[in-house]
Amino acid sequence: MKDASQVTAPRVCFVIPTYNEAPNVSLLLARLASDYPGEETSFLIVDDESPDGTADRVREFAKRDSRVHLLEGKRRGLGAAYVRGISHALDSLGAEVVVQMDADFSHDPADAKKLLARLANGADAAIGSRYISGGAVDRDWSVGRRLLSRGGNYLARRIAGLVTVHDCTSGFKAISAASLREIDVKRIRVQGYAFQIALLHRLIESGARIVEEPIYFRDRERGQTKLGIRDLIEFFYSVWWMRVAGYKTFLKFSLVGLSGVLVNLGSFQLALGLGVHKFLASPIAIELSIISNFLLNNYWTFADRAMTGRGRIRGLKYNLVSLTTLALSYATFVLLSMLFPDAAPVVLQGCGIIPATICNYLLNSYWTFRAGEPES
Ligand code: GDD
Ligand code: MN
Repeated sequence: MKDASQVTAPRVCFVIPTYNEAPNVSLLLARLASDYPGEETSFLIVDDESPDGTADRVREFAKRDSRVHLLEGKRRGLGAAYVRGISHALDSLGAEVVVQMDADFSHDPADAKKLLARLANGADAAIGSRYISGGAVDRDWSVGRRLLSRGGNYLARRIAGLVTVHDCTSGFKAISAASLREIDVKRIRVQGYAFQIALLHRLIESGARIVEEPIYFRDRERGQTKLGIRDLIEFFYSVWWMRVAGYKTFLKFSLVGLSGVLVNLGSFQLALGLGVHKFLASPIAIELSIISNFLLNNYWTFADRAMTGRGRIRGLKYNLVSLTTLALSYATFVLLSMLFPDAAPVVLQGCGIIPATICNYLLNSYWTFRAGEPES
């Protein structure tokens, strides 16, 4: 564990969406401003023309505290507000860490310290979780509300497959700017509360190191919830969409693998036809298939996971894995050629693909593209 005083504090931006939170927003800003006195911290309220004058309260506060910012827009839902807010925090406020939270005190401002501490200790994202040991929801939450929340989490884990996280719908998270840039928040299309699982889905896919920290979720005392039927409908089809997206990726990946076999054996046969010696034709054909697989997977199968930033390290690992694949496949070919000198070379070249594919799969899934591990 690193001692918090030994690391320089990152520039943290709290991104807080509001719709009709006039009774809460000034109180919350006052609490945050005193709990987080650092000059480097900023507070961005993302308001959607609340008719109750929320924005005026924020402007009022911003006159006294220059760390407070207001971003206004048309109401398109919680998710749309977050996409705007997070983009602004990254592009204009120089945020190195984004904390997302509700404006109604359901999320205790003090708990954000625990989330930030997890990031300081190496996590890419820390989730304030109600559903791990030590976490809880308000005793006064109605049975209906409990079922809704539990049901949402059940669907997110069982249908969408977000099994590594226990509180998938939590709206309280600290996320590093690097991770947010890698997943490109602007590409999130859902408009409402489904944003939480859409964001999480992308974080998990990108291999972010995600941890959960127990929190107590207090019911709001002022104002009311904005969760609507549209949010529920969108949530429901989102979990299915995520599931289908998983199949789609797998299907594309398999097709690319198949094309790789054709490239390998096709170019091998071609080279032999051109009179190239089989021990030279073999590694050339293997390398060609590795390159074509890489290009197709990068620009088609995983087109939405651009290889940038930390992706570059992944690119290096990917190359090492490919080198191993090449060596293994070639070694198998040479060995088989010596054991069965009379067999058709193209058959032996094909046999070389088998151990290489297995090794490639294991290394890539447990090393290169390892998904974020659950921790609490
Ligand atoms: N700008 C903007 N636009 N803000 C919105 C909108 C919107 O359309 N809808 C809601 N908000 C703001 C609210 O003003 C509040 O600050 C925050 O988003 C959360 O909204 P609530 O209405 O209080 O949500 P909730 O308490 O029902 O739901 C909470 O728990 C859910 C899981 O049980 C939130 O944390 C959700 O994100 C979470 O999924
Ligand atoms: Mn609330």
